[in-house]
Amino acid sequence: MVHARGIRLPSVAILGAGCVGLSIAWRLAAAGCSVDVFDSGEAGRGATHAAGGMLAACVESEPGEESLLPLTRASQALWPAFAAALEAATGLSVDLRTEGTMVIALTADDAAKVRFLHRFQTDLGLPVTWLSGAEVRRREPCLQPGVVGALYCAEDHQVDNRKLAVALLRAVRAAGGRVHERCPTPTLVLDDGRATGVQVGDVRVSADRVVLAAGAWSGMVAGLPPSARPPVRPIKGQMLCLRMDPAAPLLRHVVWTPGTYLIPRLDGRLLVGATTEERGFDSQLTAGGQLALLDGAWRALPGVAELPIEESWVGFRPGSRDDAPLLGETAIPGLILATGHHRNGILLTPVTADSVARLVLTGETDPLIRPFAPDRFATDHITAAGAAA
Ligand code: GLY
Repeated sequence: MVHARGIRLPSVAILGAGCVGLSIAWRLAAAGCSVDVFDSGEAGRGATHAAGGMLAACVESEPGEESLLPLTRASQALWPAFAAALEAATGLSVDLRTEGTMVIALTADDAAKVRFLHRFQTDLGLPVTWLSGAEVRRREPCLQPGVVGALYCAEDHQVDNRKLAVALLRAVRAAGGRVHERCPTPTLVLDDGRATGVQVGDVRVSADRVVLAAGAWSGMVAGLPPSARPPVRPIKGQMLCLRMDPAAPLLRHVVWTPGTYLIPRLDGRLLVGATTEERGFDSQLTAGGQLALLDGAWRALPGVAELPIEESWVGFRPGSRDDAPLLGETAIPGLILATGHHRNGILLTPVTADSVARLVLTGETDPLIRPFAPDRFATDHITAAGAAA
């Protein structure tokens, strides 16, 4: 496609129609590129559907994850404008809620851990404060009366990730992008070692750039040479959803308890998450997993005992070897990665969309994504092999 000013814009094929693939597609289609998105399932029904939608750049920061902060904080700052632009483009809200997030302590032991987290995050300059038990109860009267205190972050918000998927799909199509769902085995096409498109059955769609954004499935895409398979694996998470009365919700803030997190939606749903399990693509709900979630929820919020269970599900976070995303160009010319977002896929959607769109349109790598270049594991591999020799 040729831009109004005579610049030829690259055509783009995107493997994966989750929030990452769709948001990149939206940006590029809106810029005037010819965009085709391929998914073997329904758009937005993988990790995007399973997630909790927390935009928790601050309270989820733990020792060892400091290098991720510039990216997560940048994306967090982009979220309000991203949500507003999506709503303007589609007429659909993603229910961005801005009450903030608490990490509560129910015992003296919990309080020691949460106070450590508070000091750690304060030292990083994050906007977190300590709330007394009385203040926590004032803000959330249905929490267990013995709550000792809480870490609170006013900037850690939430969106409804399922609404996000619906809105992104509409935005891509409204901008002229094509989303091909339920494709049997979308296959990366290579010509002389260069990524040149995607083939589905007998149909080949040529593209100047191919973006691999297939989440936990990114290493399994057909046509990828074994040496180019991104080191991404599924990290299983079980969740469930309870139904509150929206007129009298038990909770308003996102609340992390010692064993679970609780996410109240505007429509009365109360999400309880999530297990973290290394079990490959095992999609079984287990009694132990569901028990752990319900027990953690009940200890913090006793009123959940009365709530109907609406839904339980399993999702697969795309985990990389260092739990950080893989963003940028690969050793295969024309192939760009946008995967491995692990626990932060929804949070990192706006910054991923902007930086990958910039890379496609200008060839420039946003300094924010440089630390997450896909080739960082190749260097590890050489170092490890050298050390072993
Ligand atoms: N970000 C929350 C989770 O992955 O469970």
